[in-house]
Amino acid sequence: MINARVTGLRSVELGVLDLDKSAAFYRDVWGLEQVVSGGDTIHMRGTGAEHHVLTLRQRPKATFLGVHFAAANHEAVNKLHGQVKAHGATITAAPAALPRDEGGGFGFAMRSPEGQPVFVSCDVDRLDVGREDRSRPTKLTHVVLNATKTDAELAFFLDALGFRHSDSTDMMEFVRCASDHHSLALVRTEGPSLNHMAYEMANIDGLMRGAGRMKQAGYNVEWGLGRHGPGNNVFTYFIEPNGFVTEYTAEVDQVDEATYEKHDAAYWRSFPGRPCRWGMAGHPSNRLKVAMGGNPVAAQAADGERCEDVMAKTLAR
Ligand SMILES: [Fe+2]
Repeated sequence: MINARVTGLRSVELGVLDLDKSAAFYRDVWGLEQVVSGGDTIHMRGTGAEHHVLTLRQRPKATFLGVHFAAANHEAVNKLHGQVKAHGATITAAPAALPRDEGGGFGFAMRSPEGQPVFVSCDVDRLDVGREDRSRPTKLTHVVLNATKTDAELAFFLDALGFRHSDSTDMMEFVRCASDHHSLALVRTEGPSLNHMAYEMANIDGLMRGAGRMKQAGYNVEWGLGRHGPGNNVFTYFIEPNGFVTEYTAEVDQVDEATYEKHDAAYWRSFPGRPCRWGMAGHPSNRLKVAMGGNPVAAQAADGERCEDVMAKTLAR
């Protein structure tokens, strides 16, 4: 019996080899804006009201450090904490006030059954909506995780955090916590690791302006332009300087809870618009498939090339 549910996706946290160069990429090329920095950490916002949609932390290697979700209020945070404990997942930080200079609020931290770091918070500062620029991301709209124990991960997000199940394919499970068709998806593959993160663009014109800015800066479109089956969102995928996969997306389906019907893998197996409803996108590049597999540095490496050299080369770009 679900008593409390998370209500939205806030941000993703990445460990990066070179904090300043990574922040410069996300500011000047990807289109985010620095909000707070201190020590080994930089928080960045989109044009929406969320305090930050990306946190970068200096680390010895590129590392996925977790995903943050929103809850409605203190009571919901405490109930979710109880649900997670009852589910048997590991609590890594009990509900408490969060650092005032990082947006504040109240929240707790946990590990999913497979060990993915997950955070839930409420009452984080909201920012004035940024200047209108459709070429820049409005928010983080979904995160996709690779999971070996996919069914255990799925049960955790559905039963402990109150997600709703939007769609199943042979490879993936799509779950939602707000009106977006999915805020999280799980891939049935080797895990745990980050498959990719997706940032929302205001419309297709804005998505293309962002994709063009990436292309002019030397980043190939590794998959897309296309329109997905589940979620119906328009997509372009890139590999960022640390080797993580990042997506610009637009027009994801908005779910009407009263009428929405989940589709199963058999439905999507026979869906005519695979892997792109437009017939445009074809399949991901081989290097994107490697990067989505959760070894970001390997995705950049030529035969025999050292990971450190790849990182230095891409960060210098
Ligand atoms: Fe995606």
